[in-house]
Amino acid sequence: MKTLVAYYTWQGHTGKVAKALAGRIGADLVQIEPERESGMVMKAMSAFLGRSAPIRPCKTDLSGVDFLVLASPVWAQKVPPYVNRYISLLSNTSGKPFSLLAEMGGRGAEKAIAHMRKHMEAKGMRFVSSAFTLEAEVDAGSFVPKIAEFAKTIIQE
Ligand SMILES: Cc1cc2nc3c(=O)[nH]c(=O)nc-3n(C[C@H](O)[C@H](O)[C@H](O)COP(=O)(O)O)c2cc1C
Repeated sequence: MKTLVAYYTWQGHTGKVAKALAGRIGADLVQIEPERESGMVMKAMSAFLGRSAPIRPCKTDLSGVDFLVLASPVWAQKVPPYVNRYISLLSNTSGKPFSLLAEMGGRGAEKAIAHMRKHMEAKGMRFVSSAFTLEAEVDAGSFVPKIAEFAKTIIQE
């Protein structure tokens, strides 16, 4: 099974979790990179409003991919505009299973996951599982057992 872990990270936490997960399940990694990072107020505002913003070219065509994991930080209880853009650019999505990972300071992962799920299901994709990690557990390195459990739900597919 060819699995892709796509992630956006601004301050490194989501990247750390995404890399640990990809290593565990033998997945390829794709980093979602903005064309330019906006200021803090715009970041919060555009996430809150569910906007999208330009990203650099990266793998968005899912032909040849059997499973997609999308990992995102929680911003304003939603997701960064770059993650919204990544979802909107995904192609060959019909029937593809996906899992979601949300990384946060402390509040809003459920809403962020629901937001991503809705937009990916609208592209004909099939939700499998989700998990969240906390910034503090990533800093402490104690997120690994959570990721091990999450990895099982992907490997079992
Ligand atoms: C604009 C912005 C909005 C945020 N909103 C939330 C939020 O609603 N809930 C939360 O728990 N954390 C929030 N955070 C904190 C991030 O989710 C947290 O710092 C996360 O670890 C960042 O991941 P990264 O290091 O991969 O960028 C916000 C951070 C930013 C920059």
